[in-house]
Amino acid sequence: MFSKVAILSVFVSLVAGAALDVWAPPITSPTAASVWPIGSTQNVTWDTSNKPAQVTNPNGLLVLSKDGLLDDGRSNPLAANFPLTQGWVLVTVPEVTPGNDYAVVLIGDSGNDSPQFSIIA
Ligand SMILES: *[C@@H]1O[C@H](CO)[C@@H](O)[C@H](O)[C@H]1NC(C)=O
Repeated sequence: MFSKVAILSVFVSLVAGAALDVWAPPITSPTAASVWPIGSTQNVTWDTSNKPAQVTNPNGLLVLSKDGLLDDGRSNPLAANFPLTQGWVLVTVPEVTPGNDYAVVLIGDSGNDSPQFSIIA
């Protein structure tokens, strides 16, 4: 609990003190129209055009969420340790319950999520 509070306050002071360096690039794929078959390879892309000169945390982490909740949490991400500045990363769609309320959350400097899309069997 203490560490959570500490992390939050560091984050808040980072945002307050250095807003220019916190970058949450908008995800451009998947979109609300995307349909991902389980087991397929998908190219997740985001817009790097508004990248600040200095990116505080250049290592990306991509996590699946379902109905607004992180599905497997950060222990089982779709992709990890890829360069945030690259603007895309390939992922393999995991074996999950099919649904139309999935989203991907891109975590690096800051968090940003895609629109909800579908995963089918
Ligand atoms: C993924 O999409 C991006 C942006 O369209 C493209 O530059 C990149 O080459 C694609 N990657 C693969 C492996 O298809």
